[in-house]
Amino acid sequence: MSDIAQWSPQVVQNVIALLKHKPGALLPILHGIQDSVGYVPPDSVPMIADALHQTRAEIHGVITFYHHFRMTPPGSNVVEVCRAEACQARGARALEAHVKDKLAIDYHMTTLDREFSLEPVYCLGNCACGPTIRVGDEIIGRVTPAKFDALVDELTTQVLEVRS
Ligand code: FES
Repeated sequence: MSDIAQWSPQVVQNVIALLKHKPGALLPILHGIQDSVGYVPPDSVPMIADALHQTRAEIHGVITFYHHFRMTPPGSNVVEVCRAEACQARGARALEAHVKDKLAIDYHMTTLDREFSLEPVYCLGNCACGPTIRVGDEIIGRVTPAKFDALVDELTTQVLEVRS
């Protein structure tokens, strides 16, 4: 999350200017915006539509079709749980259920305190050490429910320390 910029029209315009001439520019632009500011702000939709000569409804339709894109800011920590086969063979399903229960949210949701967002992911290249999750940029293997709980406590404590 440290590389995430504050949303501003200029940030979005920079991404659009960089990518709008690529073939099939819409998806790269949406990825670029979300990578830059953490989400696709609703106010960026008319800017994208104008640049690509498409309607706002078309842009909105693509954003909502792909679960990957979010239109609200993510939580402070984005937790991604690997749902691919190798991790499933190592207990990812049970871990996934625990993670949802612990955070009290489903995939594509953010906790009420905005500390955690939860997303599925399909292989993080850490198959031999599954079940695997990624929190921000950190890939963590052999995650048990207890290990996940400790991680949540640690991240929550860090947030409290920063705020106090
Ligand atoms: S299957 Fe989970 S990291 Fe590859």
